[in-house]
Amino acid sequence: MSTVKDAKKTDLQTIDPDVSAGVAQFLAPVVVNLQALATDGKQAHWHVRGANFQAVHELLDDVVDHAHEYADLAAERVVALGLPIDARVQTIGAQAVTPKLSEGFQQADALIAQVIAQVDAVLGVVRTAVDELAELDPVSQDVVIEIARGLDKDRWFLFSHIAK
Ligand SMILES: [Fe+2]
Repeated sequence: MSTVKDAKKTDLQTIDPDVSAGVAQFLAPVVVNLQALATDGKQAHWHVRGANFQAVHELLDDVVDHAHEYADLAAERVVALGLPIDARVQTIGAQAVTPKLSEGFQQADALIAQVIAQVDAVLGVVRTAVDELAELDPVSQDVVIEIARGLDKDRWFLFSHIAK
């Protein structure tokens, strides 16, 4: 039978504040880098050139849509634990580790290779979060495992367009 004290604790705090802070520490860079991938993925979507234009143009939009979905998953996990997330455009510009995309129109193969490099940078951040959250909070780890699985699949789709 729960006491008044237990009820208060349940209402106000379902997770240790130290755990929440730790989760935010590892999910924040995941959000920032996925938002960066979404922005540069759209840039790539607009500037791809070549015989395979239509397929690559549409594939890049899928990558953008997925990056937004994954960023939303990670950000809302942090917010659900009661902490804010900083994914303002200035923060993304200052903190994202994704490599800079070349400017202007580009042939599909070269552009896809650059987007794959960006996906790999994001996957590095996501895999760090997978490792670090295993002990800290398996529920949050599940979020980044799902994201890693999705990014691996997007990487496969991209790579299959340039693999010989
Ligand atoms: Fe479009």
